[in-house]
Amino acid sequence: MNPENIDPKFLAQFKKLEEKYDSMGQDVSSYLDGLLYSKYLHYADYIQLETLLSLQRPRTDIPDELIFIIYHQITELYFKLVNWELKQVADCKQVTDVFLQEKVSRLVRYFDNLIHSYDVMTKGMEMEQFMHFRMALLPASGFQSFQFRLIEIYCTDLYNLVDAKYRESLSETPSIEILFEHLYWKHGAQELSSGKKTLTLKQFEEKYTRKLLRNANMYSTKNLWQVVKKLAAKQELSTELKTNLRDFDKIFNVDWQLVHYRTASKYLDKKPEVLEATGGTNWHKYLPPRFQKKMFFPDLWSKEEVENWGKF
Ligand code: HEM
Repeated sequence: MNPENIDPKFLAQFKKLEEKYDSMGQDVSSYLDGLLYSKYLHYADYIQLETLLSLQRPRTDIPDELIFIIYHQITELYFKLVNWELKQVADCKQVTDVFLQEKVSRLVRYFDNLIHSYDVMTKGMEMEQFMHFRMALLPASGFQSFQFRLIEIYCTDLYNLVDAKYRESLSETPSIEILFEHLYWKHGAQELSSGKKTLTLKQFEEKYTRKLLRNANMYSTKNLWQVVKKLAAKQELSTELKTNLRDFDKIFNVDWQLVHYRTASKYLDKKPEVLEATGGTNWHKYLPPRFQKKMFFPDLWSKEEVENWGKF
């Protein structure tokens, strides 16, 4: 081929490639050989479809258990996206108001999707089938979602996750370790009868305490709330950003909790009897947001809104 006939665009691309590989001491022509022999990318390989579809392993032969597993997996994938955004916020060197608006509105969208799809759980399983397969899942519970606990740690100071009843009794500058011991979910997961830690909690702690504590330490200065406060110390926050933050606080800590709680009630509240949950918490008292009173960005809410948390 006459070099004069080569498309200048192609030559420019080749030059860039050469520069890229030269800078790493690599020979670009060997990589072009690799390109010559490599296979075309297939959709299924790219998204790892076979692996994905092999990850559903029901514990029973009851058909609706598959819905239960897949919807939990879908939720965990959304949690992964949420954490992915939050990590980028924590690691961003030049945070701006617009950047935070974009990130937080993504978080809101992810949870909006979860809430709108929640009737897959609420309405989509046969009660009798649920009653049977749930017994094969003991003592596992969504309570043990590591990613859910990470979202909380990535979003706010540990103090805001401490059980509301214990916050007042803490010393002025409690260590991360002390705060960690009083997190709302640790207090919530106590056996109905004895007040001892549930097996579900013990197993969760055994598997994740070190990882959670490491993250709690790392994110104490770069969680979303800290990043927002640092920006607010330099400039006034836009109304859009404050609205996004409030929306996210509400959608995570109230709206999702409520659709989840209503689903738990539908399946477990067999009046006059209330069934014990697989995780063994006193879930009627533990799950409702009006009791948890957990919020990520407390300064963005009025006194009245805090008092009525979970009731609006
Ligand atoms: C029929 C469906 C469901 C029922 C009956 C149910 C029930 C419960 C109950 C009773 C608890 C309290 C802990 C316990 O004692 O087990 C709990 C906690 C939890 N569940 Fe579910 N759940 C359902 C679906 C889901 C789904 C689809 C997810 C998605 C991952 C999920 C995630 C969670 C989380 C993150 C917690 C901890 C909440 C907190 O600490 O505030 N649950 N669930």
